[in-house]
Amino acid sequence: MSEPANRRGAPKGGLTRRGLFRGVGTATLLGGCVDRTSTTDPGGHAVVDDATAPAELGPDRVPVRFTLNGESVEAAVEPRTTLLDALRLDLDTTGPKLVCDRGSCSACLVLVDGLPRNSCMMLAHDVAGREVTTVEGLSKGDELSALQHAFVRHDALQCGFCTSGMLISCAALLRRRPKGEPLTATQVQDAIAGNLCRCGTYPHVVAAVLEVASGKTERAGA
Ligand code: FES
Ligand code: FES
Repeated sequence: MSEPANRRGAPKGGLTRRGLFRGVGTATLLGGCVDRTSTTDPGGHAVVDDATAPAELGPDRVPVRFTLNGESVEAAVEPRTTLLDALRLDLDTTGPKLVCDRGSCSACLVLVDGLPRNSCMMLAHDVAGREVTTVEGLSKGDELSALQHAFVRHDALQCGFCTSGMLISCAALLRRRPKGEPLTATQVQDAIAGNLCRCGTYPHVVAAVLEVASGKTERAGA
């Protein structure tokens, strides 16, 4: 004889709808915890796991310390603050530009541990302990880099809104290519594929980078 059903139609002592959802939720939660046992990300950076993470960060300003253009800096920012806002509003580093604010134009591009990243899509607290380089960090004080000089020579900027992001993409390309190896126009085009320039400077940017890569400039380096 079958068991009597309770008022919700589930067998007495069997699985109720609420029990099912609770069980699924618990399993999902446990599954998530199991996946978080890693202590380094694919780039080899330390990742805070659940056991050591603070219960809560903020909502007030919390200090974050990182290296910006070779110097150690600290900013007190809310956990929701993007790296771009922290750079521009708290650290007075206005080379990275706010244009789309949604990761589609790369005007806000910076290097994080040598890799190009859209700073509008990262939280400032994500770069704690890491190295951030903005366009200001490509030059030495007032002395422009070879790449920046080449941009000027080749007219690779007009309104300038995309220029700092373009320079970061191109500098990253020049720095990661094996020493002495020539670049092709296609490689440069691929490197700046995410940088939107409404003024259409692309051919001039490519020419500037190829000139620096050829080593035929009076200055070397990115
Ligand atoms: S402002 Fe960050 S990608 Fe456009
Ligand atoms: S120079 Fe104007 S958007 Fe690129």
